[in-house]
Amino acid sequence: MTVFLWGVLPYAAFVLLVAGLVWRHRYDRFGWTTRSSQVYESKLLNIASPVFHYGILFVLVGHLIGLFVPESWTNALGLGEHAYHLLSLYSGTAAGALAVAGIAMLIYRRRTNAPVFRATTANDKLMYAVLLASIVLGMVAKLAHTSGNGYDYRHTIAPWSRSLFTLRPDTALMAGVPVLYQVHAVVGMVLIALVPYTRLVHMFSAPVQYLVRPYVVYRSRDPRRLGPRPDRPGWERAGL
Ligand code: HEM
Repeated sequence: MTVFLWGVLPYAAFVLLVAGLVWRHRYDRFGWTTRSSQVYESKLLNIASPVFHYGILFVLVGHLIGLFVPESWTNALGLGEHAYHLLSLYSGTAAGALAVAGIAMLIYRRRTNAPVFRATTANDKLMYAVLLASIVLGMVAKLAHTSGNGYDYRHTIAPWSRSLFTLRPDTALMAGVPVLYQVHAVVGMVLIALVPYTRLVHMFSAPVQYLVRPYVVYRSRDPRRLGPRPDRPGWERAGL
C-alpha cells in the first residue's frame, strides 16, 4: 500500500495530467475554457472569483516553498524552526481561509442563481467536491497539528515529494506521516490528475497579467444613436 500510494499514485497522476493536456489540446482545443458563467451573473462573481483565485494562488506558492525549499536553506537565511512554523501557520491558514471563503461564495452563487445552476454539469460538481476536499483536508491536517512547532513535514513529506523527481521515490518517508496529511496528499494528487478533464484546465492558459491589469471598460452606445439612422442625405454633423 505504501509503495502504491507514494511510489505509483504520484506518477499515475502526473501521466494523467500530461496525457490529458495533450489530448485536450489536440481534440478539444476550442473547449479549453473555464466555461465562464459571467454572462448570467457577475456581481457576486466579481467578489468571489478574485477572493478564491488569490487564496489558491497563495496556497500554491506556500506549497512550492514548503515542499521544495529545504530546511537548510531557510536556516541559512536565519529563519529558525519556530519562526518558520509561525510564518507557515499564519500565512498558510490565511491563504487557505481566503480560498475556502471564495469557493463557498462560488458554490453559493452556483446553487442560488438558476441559469448558473443550469449551466453546472456533473463534471463541475465532481471538480468542486475534490477541490473543496483537498483545501479543507489541508487546513484540517495543519490545524490539527499546531502544538509546539506543528507537524514537521520538512523531514518527511517535503523530501518525499522531492525524491519523486529523482524517479527513486523514498516511500518509506511517508509511512509514519499522520493520516490526515496522508489523506490530504492523496486527494491533492487526485485533483491534479483531474485538472485536464475539468474546467480547471484553464489554469494552464491563464494570462498572469490578468491579476493586475486594469478593468476593461464597456460602455453602452449613445442612446440618441440607437434605432434607425435618420434618412437625411449627406454627411452627419460631427460631434453628435
Ligand atoms: C499533491 C500533493 C500535495 C501535497 C504533498 C500537499 C502537502 C501539504 C502539506 C504538507 C500541508 C501542511 C502544511 C503545514 O502543515 O504547515 C498542506 C496544507 C494545505 N494544502 Fe496541500 N498538498 C498537496 C496538494 C494540495 C492541493 C492540490 C491543494 C488545493 C488545491 C492543497 C491545499 C492545501 C491547503 C489549503 C492547506 C492548508 C493551508 C496551507 O498550509 O496552505 N494541497 N498541504
